[in-house]
Amino acid sequence: MLKIRPATIHDMPALYRICLRTALNGADASEYYADPDLVGHVFAGPYLTGDTAFGFVAADDDGVAGYILGAADSPSFERWAERAWWPDLRNRYPSPARDARTGTGSDTAASTAEAHDARLIRLLHAPPTADPQQTGDYPAHLHIDLLPRAQGSGAGRRLIDAFTGELASRGVAGVHLGVSAANPHAVGFYRHLGFRTLREDPETLLLGLPVNGV
Ligand code: ACO
Repeated sequence: MLKIRPATIHDMPALYRICLRTALNGADASEYYADPDLVGHVFAGPYLTGDTAFGFVAADDDGVAGYILGAADSPSFERWAERAWWPDLRNRYPSPARDARTGTGSDTAASTAEAHDARLIRLLHAPPTADPQQTGDYPAHLHIDLLPRAQGSGAGRRLIDAFTGELASRGVAGVHLGVSAANPHAVGFYRHLGFRTLREDPETLLLGLPVNGV
């Protein structure tokens, strides 16, 4: 049985691994990216130290099998990241040339993976920010990822409950997230749990959930 507990800085290596193994619309992205740490730098690492950030992990005797990570106040978190998280990464990963943006049919697998890295590097140089007009009632945001061995066992619901319980105790009224339209399993999960659509385009859905009792 997976136990849910608060995430700590010591979980960082496990969270980076899980982030990579679920980063391809829920599937393993180990072959998709050349640099195995990049996706964790963007979607996992900052939540272990960031302003108003917190999270929980699902773990058993075999180790950490999943996490939920997020921030209670997205604008505060974004300001913190601009100050304390992105600058070091921007030095380590200089902004790539525009022509490295996408792979082409003639690319080798390695250069295609580097082109996928380039998209993430561009993201850390210009991270998207929450639009208060769309997310004002849902100031928190989250990311949730479980390894295949932990999926479908109720752990996803328990992690969302732990996260929204913490938001309720902090008086935060709602949480939003972005999910790829190419990840219908996750979209179905969120809708089943009551998330509503805040914005939708062919590639991405922005969903929001009010926090009970706030
Ligand atoms: N459609 C409808 N209902 C669903 C679906 C679905 N596709 N998936 C799950 N459910 C329901 C379950 O039946 C269950 O219902 P119940 O509690 O009423 O009986 C409930 O949702 C909870 O299901 P869990 O078993 O807790 O779901 P799971 O543990 O698999 O977690 C998750 C879902 C987080 C999407 C997991 O499968 C996962 O990590 N997938 C890979 C990574 C991923 O895609 N992450 C999302 C990225 S987007 C982002 O982080 C913002």
